[in-house]
Amino acid sequence: MNLDFKFVSDFVFRISNFKKCGVILKKDILTLLDLDKRDFDKLFSRAGELKKMYKKGTSKRPLVGKTLGLIFDKQSTRTRISFETAMIHLGGTPIYISAKDTQIARDEPVRDTARVLSRYIDCLAIRTFSQDLLSAFGEYASIPVINALTDLYHPCQILSDLMTVIEKKGGYAGLKYAWVGDGNNVAHSWINAAAVLGLDLVLACPEGYSPNQDILDTALALGNGNITVVDDPIKAVTNADVVYTDVWASMGQESERKVRKQVFTPYEVNAALMAKASKDAIVMHCLPAHRGEEISDEILEGPQSVVWDQAENKMHMHKAVLETLIMGKG
Ligand code: CP
Ligand code: NVA
Repeated sequence: MNLDFKFVSDFVFRISNFKKCGVILKKDILTLLDLDKRDFDKLFSRAGELKKMYKKGTSKRPLVGKTLGLIFDKQSTRTRISFETAMIHLGGTPIYISAKDTQIARDEPVRDTARVLSRYIDCLAIRTFSQDLLSAFGEYASIPVINALTDLYHPCQILSDLMTVIEKKGGYAGLKYAWVGDGNNVAHSWINAAAVLGLDLVLACPEGYSPNQDILDTALALGNGNITVVDDPIKAVTNADVVYTDVWASMGQESERKVRKQVFTPYEVNAALMAKASKDAIVMHCLPAHRGEEISDEILEGPQSVVWDQAENKMHMHKAVLETLIMGKG
């Protein structure tokens, strides 16, 4: 590494995640293991400040002249639009890059696309199927690359979800977190967060739908927190402070929906299950939700549900992420 390179930020990243890019070093968020506890805490604090400024009408525009490219190979309402509005509020310009209308769809290699786009734009947010493809963008782009969801992870979702937990519970530590349902991409990012922040996380998943064993093993090897996988939703939810669920069939698994619906029926987050949780437990869902499947209408619309705050906080958290990665400021 050329020691003359200067990193313009006080933001603390593990050195292994720094990458050379001309005159500065860049940082990606491909998984939550790219962040340490201090990074998380700085993002929570900055997102909270940015939210307050936005509500008071005192927001600043530090990203004037900067651009965010968004490549989304899967559908999105919240993530894409909250990234776009976050960029606009910060004074920058989002550019939606429709993969099918670019040479990506005609098999131009990712390593070429990543290097070319790095000459035009300042940051890339990518939603795609393969984590390896995302990592290749990270490897070859000289600009920060953000995971906006892959089959394996959804890191920014959990950043904004934990911001919501902090708002509702006064902090993220000392709580029992229960995941109920599929051991999917969102669950994997919760596992990563639990490993970095030392959370008490119990995941209740049907047999055959547990989280990826390598992801679990890596998290357990970090030795922080208490992460367990069970098959009994009651066991997971009993005395939980935060109950989280997500769709039973994620994007790309539509053909399995019928089978999954049968397997997952006992995993619905409903009033009977929530009766086991702590009295003031909150219920979270990244959305979109399927009422009557993973969550009952009564619970989604009920007083314990914080799903609309979760959705809003994606915009505030994405501002903190963009500001940090593009300007190198926390
Ligand atoms: N929660 C979430 O990522 O929603 P979208 O799929 O609408 O972006
Ligand atoms: N697990 C879901 C999350 C959607 C935000 C999916 O991947 O479709």
